[in-house]
Amino acid sequence: MQDIKTSLVLVTTLLASLAHAHSWVEALSLLSPNGSFTGNTGYPRGMILRTTPGFNDTNMQWQLPANAGSQLLDNMPMCRPSQQTSNYTDSSLPKLEAYQGANIALRYQENGHVTTPWSKPGKPEHSGVVYVYGTSQPKEDDTLLGIHGQWTLDGKGGDGRGRLLTSQYFDDGQCYQINIGYISADRQAQFHRVAEAGSFQGANLWCQTDVPLPNDLDVGKDYTLYWVWDWSTMDGSGTVTLPELYTTCMDVTIADTKQVGDTGAVVPDGDSKSVPFVSITNYGEAAIQSVFESLSAAPTVPKVTATVPVNITASISYSVAAALLAKGVSSPAAAAQGASAVPLVLATLALSTHATAGAIPAAGAATAAATADSGAPAATSAASVPPTNPPRSADLGGGGECSVQTVTVTVTSTIPSQPQAHSTGSLARRRILALDDDDDDDDDDVFDS
Ligand SMILES: *[C@@H]1O[C@H](CO)[C@@H](O)[C@H](O)[C@H]1NC(C)=O
Ligand SMILES: *[C@@H]1O[C@H](CO)[C@@H](O)[C@H](O)[C@H]1NC(C)=O
Ligand SMILES: *[C@@H]1O[C@H](CO)[C@@H](O)[C@H](O)[C@H]1NC(C)=O
Ligand SMILES: *[C@@H]1O[C@H](CO)[C@@H](O)[C@H](O)[C@H]1NC(C)=O
Repeated sequence: MQDIKTSLVLVTTLLASLAHAHSWVEALSLLSPNGSFTGNTGYPRGMILRTTPGFNDTNMQWQLPANAGSQLLDNMPMCRPSQQTSNYTDSSLPKLEAYQGANIALRYQENGHVTTPWSKPGKPEHSGVVYVYGTSQPKEDDTLLGIHGQWTLDGKGGDGRGRLLTSQYFDDGQCYQINIGYISADRQAQFHRVAEAGSFQGANLWCQTDVPLPNDLDVGKDYTLYWVWDWSTMDGSGTVTLPELYTTCMDVTIADTKQVGDTGAVVPDGDSKSVPFVSITNYGEAAIQSVFESLSAAPTVPKVTATVPVNITASISYSVAAALLAKGVSSPAAAAQGASAVPLVLATLALSTHATAGAIPAAGAATAAATADSGAPAATSAASVPPTNPPRSADLGGGGECSVQTVTVTVTSTIPSQPQAHSTGSLARRRILALDDDDDDDDDDVFDS
């Protein structure tokens, strides 16, 4: 039983991991007329890879406003300082080469925003909306508010220096990082991805914004893109209460088609609809089909709606049970503990939400817990967690934001491998759930920070 307690402590200690890992464009890919990635990978300005020794999110993240609780100001720069100029000093991290009229994919990690959307209350559906602006005349001192909401699809908005190219939901409907939360698990099955040799992305499926480049760009010149992700906090009616936006700035070299990587054979004919979409053999090597096929139509801006309450209970019991299974605890015991851990975890969540808007320990946290002990055997058995979990109620400290989903979750026989280094951010050990020495049926558990 010590194992069970240790695991529960681990699982619940790893709260708040995902809420602090934010997203930026990690890579750009040129799309073939059939939607497959082609050519060489491109990068944003001032790129630092997550694998760089000493890397942390602040090396690439640009959050506006910088301090939660502040409002947007007119003079807030669009780009982080390292991205305010065409900063490409590392020849191994070059600009994307594309051609005018090409479609390209901007790719980013979801970092739990898609697969653990309950990590912060009041967030928009589909993890918010991404806007991509393009200009041939970037300025070092471009501001967010001078462009975002100003530049329009027809290029006539704001100061007219650029235009809105597309806007899409942050959640492209497929992407995930590998964790044992149920959203990720569902998507791993539906959009299965096998890691290519040496791939930094691994078996995680990065999200993408598929962007149509204008047809009237100058060959040999750079075209600058501003990726703006709006993940503001809203009230129930959809009114923004706290702005929270992230940007990435990048350049694309507009090449003569024949000079673009291995796309020599691809002549943009302006009619990609005439080419059937590539049949997917491995997710993460092509555009999102529905988005890609809509790029030739007149762009629309998706509606931003307030999030609906999510059902988190099943995911908690799933995560706890899976973590225990991974430690060799028998299936029935893991299932029972998974179910009975729910009130404790929800109570802890309620406490940490008050303090810091923390995350619940679905997903990466449980995966980390499951693999934290190197001596732990891999899970070898399956368990059904019965739908006996109570709703998050007032006496558990909850605000009634979450409801209960009565589902049966099955812990499958393998625990996914650890996500890529840094892919879910550092696992902050902020709040420790101290369990009683007695094993079962405790109502007097103590929560310490
Ligand atoms: C260019 O990017 C690198 C890496 O982010 C950064 O260290 C450097 O300061 C940047 N240079 C400029 C001029 O912004
Ligand atoms: C992250 O890196 C930046 C720049 O190297 C550094 O100033 C900052 O202290 C680091 N933050 C953490 C939490 O390590
Ligand atoms: C898709 O297009 C690329 C580039 O033209 C080509 O190399 C690839 O063979 C095509 N794939 C399929 C399945 O047609
Ligand atoms: C939560 O569960 C309830 C009851 O099963 C269901 O009606 C509702 O659609 C679920 N909400 C979400 C966001 O899945």
